[in-house]
Amino acid sequence: MISADEQKAQAASEALKFVQEGMLLGLGTGSTAAHFVRQLGAKVAQGFKIAGVPTSIATEELAKEVGVPLLNIDEITTLDLVIDGADESDNKLNLIKGGGAALLREKVIAQASKHMIVIADESKLVSKLGKFPLPIEIIQFATTITINQIKLVLEQCGVKGLVMAIRQKDGKSLITDNGNYILDCQCLEIPDPETLCIELNKIPGVVENGIFPNFKGAKRTLILGSPNGARVIEI
Ligand code: A5P
Repeated sequence: MISADEQKAQAASEALKFVQEGMLLGLGTGSTAAHFVRQLGAKVAQGFKIAGVPTSIATEELAKEVGVPLLNIDEITTLDLVIDGADESDNKLNLIKGGGAALLREKVIAQASKHMIVIADESKLVSKLGKFPLPIEIIQFATTITINQIKLVLEQCGVKGLVMAIRQKDGKSLITDNGNYILDCQCLEIPDPETLCIELNKIPGVVENGIFPNFKGAKRTLILGSPNGARVIEI
């Protein structure tokens, strides 16, 4: 048996095999992505040439610490590959992300990338999204209005047993890298992730939500660590 953290490290090292010299990489956020950034740093130290763009301030700091060269996001339009973690993936590779509060920058980078590799321990693969509370980034203004509108959309999209709370950290509402709040929505099950993603983003106070639908056309690969070795899933 190997621990969840060992599975994360295993998935990260499998993802490293997809990285070719000269690539421009999106660097994800969270404990699994951190394994990847450290392993990439070790490769860079041996002379391997790539450049990265971080999806959070935390990842930027880690990348600098381990010597991964970074580019200014405003200097680029597309990336070759983004490697990021996930809180859940269904078998169509639709994701819930944002457990680390970085979903907005993660989605910007993911949508600008030709290929997204999602790395995770095997517990993240689920039959239906929604057990992990869905994070939604909302503006600080008029939260009561925004939360009420989110509740209505979630109910219209078939979410039952909804519980919502603004994420707290150190006794205060957490503020994201972009100056917003995160609303965590316990949905239990999300019947139609793609529709919910679209409908939530129509609410003016919603900046972005943590559903990453696997839209046709974009390449996405899921790599799961497991006691029997890394599993690579592409659909
Ligand atoms: C960060 O906002 C998230 O999207 C992470 O990628 C996700 O929470 C996975 O985190 P772990 O790799 O720590 O499980």
